[in-house]
Amino acid sequence: MAGKNQTLILEFLLLGLPISSEYHLLFYALLLAMYLTTLLGNLLIILLVRLDSHLHTPMYLFLSNLSFSDLCFSSVTIPKLLQNMQSQVPTISYADCLTQLYFFMVFGDMESFLLVVMAYDRYVAICFPLHYTSIMSTKFCALLVLLLWMLTISHALLHTLLMARLSFCEKNVILHFFCDISALLKLSCSDTYVNELMIFIMGGIISIIPFLLIVMSYVRIFFSILKVPSSQDIHKVFSTCGSHLSVVTLFYGTIIGLYLCPSGNNSTVNEISMAMMYTVVTPMLNPFIYRLRNRDMKRALIRVIFSKKISL
Ligand SMILES: *[C@@H]1O[C@H](CO)[C@@H](O)[C@H](O)[C@H]1NC(C)=O
Repeated sequence: MAGKNQTLILEFLLLGLPISSEYHLLFYALLLAMYLTTLLGNLLIILLVRLDSHLHTPMYLFLSNLSFSDLCFSSVTIPKLLQNMQSQVPTISYADCLTQLYFFMVFGDMESFLLVVMAYDRYVAICFPLHYTSIMSTKFCALLVLLLWMLTISHALLHTLLMARLSFCEKNVILHFFCDISALLKLSCSDTYVNELMIFIMGGIISIIPFLLIVMSYVRIFFSILKVPSSQDIHKVFSTCGSHLSVVTLFYGTIIGLYLCPSGNNSTVNEISMAMMYTVVTPMLNPFIYRLRNRDMKRALIRVIFSKKISL
């Protein structure tokens, strides 16, 4: 596809964050702290679910999966950003850029799908408590997770292959802090019509359908507790659903805003701050918003620490 007399670009410049140099150190320290918090918070969840057999239920296994993809999701972008903030010439090779794009999509999709599965899990648990164990069997859950992986891998592969088809000629400055799909499309000198069409169609399917499914699960949960109101149940349901919903809104709100609004209306700074929101802030807050606050998690933590002490 490459033109005959075009020099092909092998390396991009990642412009990074639009901040003035006096705040550079501050942002660097802040990002590093947030990244470490993300790693620790999510690793703790994965370890707890692994070590404590009381947490071997679908809900916590999905949470642990979510933690795993949170961890990977922020590891795709932040270490490279931190490295680039240190270097004078913040470059990324063409191959690294496509790899970053691929894994960014894999784990981003994985998060959005897992949020759906978790909403469904709550829906079954609250609306069909007697059938919960037979519906959410180990086999079914494993199958669900396998299906999610297949979906995310093929969706990411589709966009990465479509991107690899394009050629890049003279413009090589990415106005972003990672190889974002729309930032890359703006640089290409090939026809990007098919790519944009696929982003629009698949982006719509991948973000709107899961979001609607989550909303539907919650509407049903809401009506089922209205039928048998007991204040304790209501409190319990609202405390877990409220936090889950805030994660969902944070995650989907930014993504839907970013990919479905015409890019002309979004300034680069806006795009970057929204991207910061879901690559840095959401994965960091997820463990805190509705996992570590949870009573089962605290008990598990105490049990794990205590049993380790005894075994030592
Ligand atoms: C993800 O979920 C599956 C199915 O519930 C489970 O078997 C697996 O251990 C989980 N993975 C992690 C990393 O928690």
